[in-house]
Order: sequence, then C-alpha cells, then structure tokens
Amino acid sequence: MKILDQRLLPDQVKFITVKDAAGTAKATKDMALRGAPLIGCAAAFGFALELRRLKPRSAGDLEKIAGKTADLLKAARPTAVALFYAADRMEAFARKFAAAHPGKYAPAALKGLLSAVDKEARLVTTEDEKACLDMGNYGAALLPKNCVIMTHCNAGALATMGIGTAVGVITAAHKKGKIKHAYSCETRPYLQGARLTIWELMREGVPSELLTDNMAAHIIKTCGVNAIVVGADRIASNGDTANKIGTYGLAVIAKHHKVPFYVAAPTPTIDMKARDGDAIIIEERSCEEVTFVKGKRIAPKGVRVRHPAFDVTPAGLITALITEKGVISPVTRGNIIKNLAN
Ligand code: MRU
Repeated sequence: MKILDQRLLPDQVKFITVKDAAGTAKATKDMALRGAPLIGCAAAFGFALELRRLKPRSAGDLEKIAGKTADLLKAARPTAVALFYAADRMEAFARKFAAAHPGKYAPAALKGLLSAVDKEARLVTTEDEKACLDMGNYGAALLPKNCVIMTHCNAGALATMGIGTAVGVITAAHKKGKIKHAYSCETRPYLQGARLTIWELMREGVPSELLTDNMAAHIIKTCGVNAIVVGADRIASNGDTANKIGTYGLAVIAKHHKVPFYVAAPTPTIDMKARDGDAIIIEERSCEEVTFVKGKRIAPKGVRVRHPAFDVTPAGLITALITEKGVISPVTRGNIIKNLAN
C-alpha cells in the first residue's frame, strides 16, 4: 500500500510503501497518515495485506490471524473510532468467511479469501468517499450566501478517501458560490491547519487565510465569521464530540458570539457504546511535539509539558452534526439514533 507521507507536507510530496499490518500501525502511530476516516481506511487495507503475507492455512488459522491483526491495528491510536470500526469490520468479515469455509484452505480457497478481503477493504474506502460527497452537499445547504467560515485542524481530502468532512463542506459550498472567505486555524502543536488545511483550501481556489489559534476569538468577533465547521474523531451517543485539541475552545467562543458551530463526520465516527464524552479516551502525545518545531527546540530543556491531542465539545455547544445520512439538530441521543436509522 502506498501512503502519502503527510509529515512532509506541504514542502514535499512523497509516498511510503507499507507491506503489512505492523507497517500500517506504525505509519498511523507516527502520523505519516492521519485523520480519522483515513486511518480507518488504511487499517482495512493493512488487514488485507496481513492476510496476504500470512496466507492462512485453515479456518482456525484465519480466525487467529484476524483477531491478532485487528488488535495490532487498533493499538495504533486510541481516540478516532473509525480505526476501531474498520479493524472490527475486517475481523468480523474474516470470521464470517471462516465460518462459511471450515477446514483446511487449498490454494483456490486462499485465493478466494484474499480477493474477498480486498473487496471488503475497498468497500470501506468507497463508502467513505461517497459519505464525504453527501456531507458536502448537506453541509453546503446549511451555509448562508457570502459565508465567512472558520475551520480547525485538517478534516479535508488528506484526512479521508474523498473530498473531506469539514473541508469537504467548505469546498462543496465554494463550488456553489457560497463562500466569501475561509479561515483555517493553524492547530498547534502539530500544525495540521497550517501545513495541510490551508494548503488544500489554496489548491481548491477558496479565498482563505491562515490564523494562529489564539487569533480565532478576535477574528470571529471582528471579521463577520458566520459559521464554523470542524470534523470529528469520535462522537459519543449523546453527541459529545472529540476532535482535535482546540475545538472545544472554538465552540465556546462560537456560542458567545452566536455563530453556528457545525461538526461534519461520517456515521462510523459515532460510537453508540460511548454514553457521553467522558467515555472517550483522549490520546496524549509526546512532549517533543510541543517543545520542538521543525526540529528546533522552542522551550527550555527539561520543561514539563502536557499534550492532549484531542478535546471533547459538549453536544449542547454543537448547532448540528452533519453526517452522510443528513443533518442532526438539535444534537441529542434520540436524533442521532433517528439519523443512524436513515
Ligand atoms: O491527530 P489527527 O491529525 O489525526 O487528528 C485529526 C482531527 O482531529 C481532525 O480535526 C478531524 O476532524 C478528524 S479527521 C476528519
């Protein structure tokens, strides 16, 4: 599998090759690829590659490999539920195959297995691609004409297999002539907004400007921002939403200024097993990602650092959730259940 190494963007466009589940998990952990839907899609292919590598010799062998591979992939990062969704889905698919094809696997049966698993992995990605288009349309319809919009982190094409979630909404609205201006927060410490989102917006021809995160409140107050749209890594069953660190603060500012705050995310981002935001594990990443910028230390040696990579925005601060199945507003458990049933 070829992976665009997002750590090098926007300066270099380079691909790395991953050959198995361990390589996929490492690329995910090290942020060579990132973004909730994308790490799920990569996990689906990482699973398929692992079966190709290990060539299960029987149904029992397949079941063992499937369980181990899914666990390996899921250990890469804890917050984005799309990763768990894809790994669990591939494991369940393999187990179903094993149940339907008991006993030893002759070469023809193995070939059938590998091609069926590849097909399922492709389905995970085509579903994501389609979901992005649908979210783009639903989201664009919510925005006013001449919209001045703000986003945070990177929820664009780079984070998905399609046009993106939040950035997909912006580019879809731009194509309909509705975007006057877009602001991207730089998203300290990993700078997804500065390195990736503004790059994507510029490539799409969206009139846009980059902000440091601490400029957001001032710009919202003074520059006529009339919508904020972000993506999500995990949405609890009551609508509490984990997204990139800084999202919660933006939502509080949006509430103060009565600016609608939208979350665009495909339904695999909704974790109905999580009762509320407290059930979501927040990934803590390395201190170096805070104390170093492009290899240069920017804080005293030995400094103590916190680095929660995500925060949780309470459902009450979210005007609407935009999924591929429609718009959820107000954001309540009941409305989420209705949307999922669509
Ligand atoms: O740590 P990352 O870069 O993988 O986090 C991604 C995000 O939090 C994005 O903001 C996003 O909304 C989820 S991916 C569409």
